[in-house]
Amino acid sequence: MSGASPSLAQALAEAQAEIEVALDTLLPPAEGDEAPLFAAMRYAAMGGGKRMRGFLVLEGARQFAVSRASALRVAAAVEMLHAYSLVHDDLPAMDDDDLRRGKPTVHKAWDEATAILAGDALQAQAFAVLAAEDTHSDGAVRAELCLRLALASGARGMVGGQMLDILAEEAEAPLSEVQVGRLQLLKTGKLIEFSAEAGAILGRAPHPQRLALIGYGHDLGAAFQIADDLLDATATVEQIGKRAGKDAEAGKATLVGLLGAERARAQAERLVAQARVHLDSFDGSADLLREMADFTIARRA
Ligand code: IPE
Ligand code: IPE
Ligand code: MG
Ligand code: MG
Ligand code: MG
Repeated sequence: MSGASPSLAQALAEAQAEIEVALDTLLPPAEGDEAPLFAAMRYAAMGGGKRMRGFLVLEGARQFAVSRASALRVAAAVEMLHAYSLVHDDLPAMDDDDLRRGKPTVHKAWDEATAILAGDALQAQAFAVLAAEDTHSDGAVRAELCLRLALASGARGMVGGQMLDILAEEAEAPLSEVQVGRLQLLKTGKLIEFSAEAGAILGRAPHPQRLALIGYGHDLGAAFQIADDLLDATATVEQIGKRAGKDAEAGKATLVGLLGAERARAQAERLVAQARVHLDSFDGSADLLREMADFTIARRA
């Protein structure tokens, strides 16, 4: 993965392969009368993506000796939820994109109705996976995972942020830096924060360690969206597998638009340094999480 250290690149490649297998197992095969729905779900969730959120789940879980099987189910659930958010984000009514992960978007490969339904079903399946007994023997842990993911992804999380993102396109005055920060915290930050926290929930970690991972995910999520906006402004479509240069065209509220690329990058770098400080109470076992923080802004895709 370009921009990753050798150790991170290897661990990420392994995680990507394991998450792919988990998704293959947890998503319905494309058979029966609803086959187009199942095929679109698999198309959206599998065969691409950096799996950064799933990787955070796995590495967080590793800090607390959670079984790999449990952690992989949660990693796959987060990636399903994320895939749903991308399918809907690309719809004509939202960002109107025709390319995602180097392939036609779901509404282009099928149609809008199938894309809406595939997104809906991916979201439901994410919660079904979290709630199932195989994810953790303790029902309270499963409920906590469902609750935290619901909060991260719903009206006061990702979906709320997406609403702000769309409203900002038509706003009379440009959003302030503080407003853009809040928009990005919700639309991107909350799911990344949950991804970092999930391993601590699975491992019934002591509160200070859980809070440290939440703080890490919070800062990482903010840096991650700035990096995404920088890539939109500077990268090529071949690099990122999605159309570039669209944010300025669509009038998106971004820190890159507001502060310029240089200051936005400096802010992302500060956030990454801050994310790493949250991990100070962890030993070398958290080194991949530290490297992931650096990768968030060094990445070229
Ligand atoms: C893209 O996320 C959408 C944002 C929240 C910025 P990623 O850059 O993680 O997309 P994939 O999963 O690697 O395709
Ligand atoms: C998307 O942000 C955030 C989501 C919740 C999906 P963007 O609209 O910038 O993501 P890309 O650039 O299309 O991947
Ligand atoms: Mg968008
Ligand atoms: Mg988009
Ligand atoms: Mg973007």
